[in-house]
Order: sequence, then structure tokens, then C-alpha cells
Amino acid sequence: MKPAKLHYWILVWFSMALCCWCTSDAFTQSDVHFHPWKKLYFAHHWPVTVCKMNANDCHDPPNYWTIHGLWPDRAEDCNRTWHFNVTEIKDLLSDMRHYWPDVLHSSLNRTQFWKHEWDKHGTCAATLEILNSQKKYFGKALELYQHVDLNGCLLKAGIKPSSSYYEMTAIKEALRRFYGVTPKIQCLPPEEGEKAQTIGQIEFCFTKELQLVNCTVSEDESNPMQAHLKLGTSELSVCHDDLPTYYPSEVQDHK
Ligand SMILES: *[C@@H]1O[C@H](CO)[C@@H](O)[C@H](O)[C@H]1NC(C)=O
Ligand SMILES: *[C@@H]1O[C@H](CO)[C@@H](O)[C@H](O)[C@H]1NC(C)=O
Ligand SMILES: *[C@@H]1O[C@H](CO)[C@@H](O)[C@H](O)[C@H]1NC(C)=O
Ligand SMILES: *[C@@H]1O[C@H](CO)[C@@H](O)[C@H](O)[C@H]1NC(C)=O
Repeated sequence: MKPAKLHYWILVWFSMALCCWCTSDAFTQSDVHFHPWKKLYFAHHWPVTVCKMNANDCHDPPNYWTIHGLWPDRAEDCNRTWHFNVTEIKDLLSDMRHYWPDVLHSSLNRTQFWKHEWDKHGTCAATLEILNSQKKYFGKALELYQHVDLNGCLLKAGIKPSSSYYEMTAIKEALRRFYGVTPKIQCLPPEEGEKAQTIGQIEFCFTKELQLVNCTVSEDESNPMQAHLKLGTSELSVCHDDLPTYYPSEVQDHK
């Protein structure tokens, strides 16, 4: 075979291999996963409840709702080659420490929590241009946090941490009136011998254009969501409308 011809065959072989690579399972085996998603869940958690739920080293949990994460539905770990780099968000660090603290591990290296959120959720959210860098993803979440102002909303509605109980429907109604949408509200179920659930997490749903929408939790959607709520919140589930609801001000409860 003449060298020119050999080059030709190498080229043909290479093109075919490339073509198969692109169309075969090689894509799903790679480090980059494309998961279509529709909605973002912007989760706030109540640090006192988070600290009640877990063996941890919580110290003086903040007495305001903090960010848990900004999560595309139906997608996680989308790009394992895109490593978290705290330097990329150095301008955001003081806000991050305040509004997005690692509630459970307050004395450990805080960047681990942010790394986890980036690896699992941020790399999927990054398919949107407005979220396609670490700075944009974390920065936008902080912006949404100020915009949503859950703490301000609850305060205005007179819903404050307390040792008495709230009706879940009253909390829901206050949020719905304020935002025009119904968020997803999660609680710790009542402990043995108790009658009240404990509010722990409030998730707002956003479209890809970052418009608030109702979080309608249909049955078929609940499974994929369950999977990614495992992080430190394995015991939280959607609150019951008809149970009294405790919104605790301290980790040690009033029993
Ligand atoms: C995956 O991450 C790398 C950075 O490590 C980036 O260059 C690439 O564009 C990302 N791919 C997708 C599909 O987001
Ligand atoms: C982290 O980001 C900074 C700022 O963008 C960059 O200078 C540095 O090289 C990055 N480090 C790694 C390990 O990629
Ligand atoms: C925290 O972890 C990051 C990387 O995971 C590391 O670069 C940094 O030095 C650590 N900081 C402390 C105080 O341990
Ligand atoms: C959310 O649902 C309520 C009814 O539960 C409806 O009145 C409202 O218009 C919906 N909002 C949006 C933004 O879809």
C-alpha cells in the first residue's frame, strides 16, 4: 500500500471511529452527562431544624433561613471534569458565609459544602447561559435569595420561631399570598409521642428564565427529587396540611 493510500485509510478509519464514538454509549460513559431539566428548585433551610436532625457539630445555628441549594430537577453530577474552585467565587465569600453556610459542619472547611453543591447541581444548572460559571451560579443564587427574601416575608406575615404551633395551612397561605405561587414545604415528621411536625425546608420553583412558578409535586416527579434531597435531609418530607407545625427557635426543644 502506498503511503498516500495508507493515509487515506487511516483517515477513513479515524472518521468512522469518531462517528461511532459520538453516537454510541461512549457519551453516557464519559464524564459529561447531558440531562434535560425544566425547573430549578431554590431550597432554603431552617438551620435550627437541620441541627435537630443530624449528628453534627452545629454551633449556634443562624436564626434566619439560609440557602441549601439551587437545584435543577431531574439532573445531577452533569460534568465531573468541571472542578469546584473557590478562587472563582472569592468576591462572593462574605455573602456565601452568611447566607449559604454549611450549617451541619460549622467548624469544618466550609468549601466542602459548596463544592458538593457545585459538583452535584451547579454543573447541571450550567447548561443555562446565566448560570454557566461558578461565579454566575453562586452569584445568581445569592441574588435570588435577596429577591425572594423569605425571612422578610415570614416576618411580615407574623410567622416567627416560637414554642407554640402553627397551622401548616396558615403558613402555606401566607407564602402563597406573598409570592403568588406555592412553594414546596418540607417538615420533619412528628417524633414518637408527639403530634407536631417541624418545618425544615422551603423550596421555591423557578423556570429557566428565573420566573417563580408553582412547585406542584406530582407523584411521578417525587422520585427523582427524593434522590437528590438525601443530602443531610433524609428525614424531611412534604409537610402535612393537617398537622400542627412547630417552627423552633432553639435546637433543644421545649419538651
Ligand atoms: C464541562 O466542563 C469543562 C471544564 O472542565 C468545560 O470546558 C466544558 O464546556 C463542560 N461541558 C459541558 C457540556 O458543560
Ligand atoms: C482557580 O481559579 C483561579 C481564578 O479564576 C485561577 O487563577 C486558578 O488557576 C484556578 N485553579 C485551578 C486549580 O484551576
Ligand atoms: C479547604 O478546602 C480547600 C479545597 O477543598 C483547600 O484548598 C483549602 O486550603 C481548605 N481550607 C482550610 C482552611 O482547610
Ligand atoms: C399557582 O397556582 C395558583 C393556584 O393554586 C394559581 O392561582 C396561580 O396563578 C399559579 N401561579 C403561577 C405563576 O402559575
